[in-house]
Formats: sequence, C-alpha cells, structure tokens
Amino acid sequence: QSFFKSILNAAPPSPTKRHNKISVIGAGNVGMAIAQTILTQDLVDELVLVDAIPDKLRGEMLDLQHAAAFLPRTKIQASTDYSVTMGSDLCIVTAGARQINDESRLNLLHRNVNLFKKIIPPLARYSPHCVLLIVSNPVDVLTYIAWKLSGFPSNRVIGSGTNLDSSRFRFLIADHLDVNAQDVQAYIVGEHGDSSVALWSSISVGGVPVLSFLEKQQIAYEKEMLENIHKEVINGAYEVISLKGYTSWAIGYSVANLARTIMRNQRKIHPVSVLAKGFYGIDGGEVFISLPAQLGRGGVLGVTNIHMTEEEMKRLKDSATTILELQNQLGI
Ligand code: NAI
Ligand code: LAC
Repeated sequence: QSFFKSILNAAPPSPTKRHNKISVIGAGNVGMAIAQTILTQDLVDELVLVDAIPDKLRGEMLDLQHAAAFLPRTKIQASTDYSVTMGSDLCIVTAGARQINDESRLNLLHRNVNLFKKIIPPLARYSPHCVLLIVSNPVDVLTYIAWKLSGFPSNRVIGSGTNLDSSRFRFLIADHLDVNAQDVQAYIVGEHGDSSVALWSSISVGGVPVLSFLEKQQIAYEKEMLENIHKEVINGAYEVISLKGYTSWAIGYSVANLARTIMRNQRKIHPVSVLAKGFYGIDGGEVFISLPAQLGRGGVLGVTNIHMTEEEMKRLKDSATTILELQNQLGI
C-alpha cells in the first residue's frame, strides 16, 4: 500500500537504474565514524552495518536512522547475519581488536586474522563483485589475508593504508607553513604504521616543490623540522590512543573519502595498500603496502610512477620486508 496514488499511465523505474550499497563490518568507533561520514556525503542508496554484538548494533542503527530528517535519504540496515550485505558494491571491514596504550598495530595480527577467517568468506560469497576495503589493523597484512580468503582479483582488494598517515602529514606541513592542507601534495607510503616512509622529494605546495625550495635557500635546519614532522605522523595515533582510547574521526573521513572515489568512479590518486609486487623494486613476494594508486569503480585502476630518491626507495623496500616477514610467519 503506497502513501501516494500513482499518476495516470505511470511506469516503474528504469530497470537499468543502479542501486548503490555499502556495507560496513564492525560497528565500533571506527566503523561508526565511517558510516556517519558516508551518510553525510549522499554516496549511497543503502548502508548496511554488521557486528557480532546484536544490541549494540541495533542501537547504532536506530541512532543513525533517527537522524533521517537531517540527512540525504539512505536506507540503513543492520544485522549480525551476513546475508544483509548481499549485492554490496563496497564492503568496508573495520571489525577487530584495537591497540591499547603503546601497543603496536602489528601486535593485533593473530587475533584479527582469526576474525577475518569468519568475516571475509561470507562477505565474498554475498557480494562477489564488490570492492573490499580493509581498515582493521594491522591493515597491510590483513588486506593480504582478505585477498587470499576472498579469492578476489587483486584490484578489488584495497587497504585504507597510509591515506590517513598522509592526511596527518599534510595537516602538519600545512600547519607549519600556514597554508591549506588541501594545497599540500605529500605522500606517506609503505606500512600504515611504524615503518612508513615519507616521500620528502615530491612534497609540493601549490605546485612549488618544498624541498628544492628549502635547499636553494640553504635552510638546512628546516629539513630536520620535516623529519620531526614524520615522527609526529608516526606518533600521532599513539598519542590519540593514549589520550582518548582510540582513533576515529580522521579514519572516518579518510575512508569516506576513499568510498567517494570508488563509488563515484573519480579516478583520484590515493596512497592506499595495494598488491605492491613489481613496483619500485619490491620483489620479495606478494605484499600489500601503500603506494599512490588511482582508484575508481573497479577498485585499483593503476599505480602511479612517483619520483623517489634512492633513500626513499630503500626505506620503502625495508617497509615491505617488515610486512612480508610477518606474513611469512602466518604461513597463509
Ligand atoms: P572497537 O572495539 O570500537 O570496534 C570493533 C568492533 O568489531 C566491535 O564493535 C566488535 O563487536 C566488532 N567485532 C568483533 N568481532 C566481530 C565479528 N566477528 N564480526 C563483526 N564484528 C565484529 O574498535 P575500533 O576502535 O572501531 O577499531 C577497529 C579496528 O580498526 C582496529 O583493528 C583498529 O586498530 C583499526 N583502525 C585502523 C585504522 C587505519 O587507519 N587502518 C585507524 C583506526 C583504527
Ligand atoms: C590510526 C590507527 C590506530 O589511527 O591505525 O592510525
């Protein structure tokens, strides 16, 4: 029974019209920050939440549904049963253990690999054509695990990777130079975490290469300042965790930004975790780490050929080795 009476000779909507659907697995701090940011951006017709705790899940669903009068219209569903995710275009996985004070991301590995064995197979079964976007930590190894468990082609399995670290980097550079972070082009690549690599040589602000500008001015001490900025990027998450217990808002925006590029086929470049074998001399094995990649509806469209110095390239290879060694211990 429809609230409205149809006008004369009305036809049903075109069968070719697409229904966009995103599922978010894990309705914790991170999953909910991502879900709420996606809702504000009018990206999808349907948003699904999955978690293992039914009451909390239903509470989160209702709380978001109650904002309907202020948001673009989106059908919000939630269930502990993965059938609710059927036909998703994008599945974002945030479920899992998080770090406590001073704990490294890599320390979460075994707990979260076991969870992924329960989560990824049903997701892949219900949405065999989706893009999988992994956020749970350690994100690089878990993206590899998700790739293996899903059986998906590598271009459809992405880790949120250093998209967040790069935003922290751009914020700090912008703050230091008193410019807008959106005008700062700067990438952190490699592991999302302690062995990440700052690509100093390619930083530019409004098209002006920062490092060569500083060198010409012989402002040597500024280089040290930049190194400190990278340290601050690495310590950033630890600091937030020690202060508020977890990180959420920045990862929420970071992942919603990736979701927009994928769902709207924007062909934008993001530093995200991709199958890196064969790029920049990374040849030790199948490893997912962050490289600047072009993203769109099909997932990863390509990896950009960014300029790196020998030193940056070496650090990137070392970062890949750190991840590979962990992966090899898992024997998957
Ligand atoms: P949280 O503890 O608030 O939420 C985790 C959620 O996962 C809980 O609601 C829990 O019930 C759910 N869960 C557990 N097992 C499940 C299962 N089998 N199926 C479905 N849901 C299940 O943790 P928080 O703060 O949301 O962090 C989640 C993950 O995201 C952590 O691994 C954290 O390290 C990671 N993270 C990653 C970032 C990145 O940049 N890649 C940034 C911030 C956090
Ligand atoms: C981050 C998480 C903890 O905010 O990986 O960087």
